[in-house]
Amino acid sequence: MSLPIFVLNGPNLNLLGVREPHIYGSTTLADIEASCRALAGELGYDLVFRQTNHEGELIEWVQEARTAASALVINPAGYGHTSVALLDALKNVPGPIVECHLSNPAQRESFRHHTYVSLAATGVVAGFGADSYAVAIRAAVAVLRR
Ligand code: DQA
Repeated sequence: MSLPIFVLNGPNLNLLGVREPHIYGSTTLADIEASCRALAGELGYDLVFRQTNHEGELIEWVQEARTAASALVINPAGYGHTSVALLDALKNVPGPIVECHLSNPAQRESFRHHTYVSLAATGVVAGFGADSYAVAIRAAVAVLRR
């Protein structure tokens, strides 16, 4: 039995559905979790899906993913643009890492154009709204099946 896919979500993503819906859409994080869980099941994986507003907690979960996850999908939210500590944690994850964003940060303010997470990610999915998560899970599984 394979280890689960971890999907980790950073700060303010608990507010999806009410948070700047013109940018992030009206889908809630619970909706995204349900569709990720269904897709992972179809692809033969269990799913661990979590959200935190705390940088240290996110880093602890990334450390957990080192040994407990087949692959990691992470929407670091604002911490992607600021956290060297998160990058340092991600560098120790042996499996595929897919950085995932609902919006396309490259089209937004210049401070969103750089993410530390990208330096450790296998690849990045951005700009497809809630569908970015499904694309990210499919990409992670494609890498696992190589
Ligand atoms: C985000 C993009 C980030 O720039 C922002 O800080 C977020 C959400 C996204 O999913 O589009 O919180 O990661």
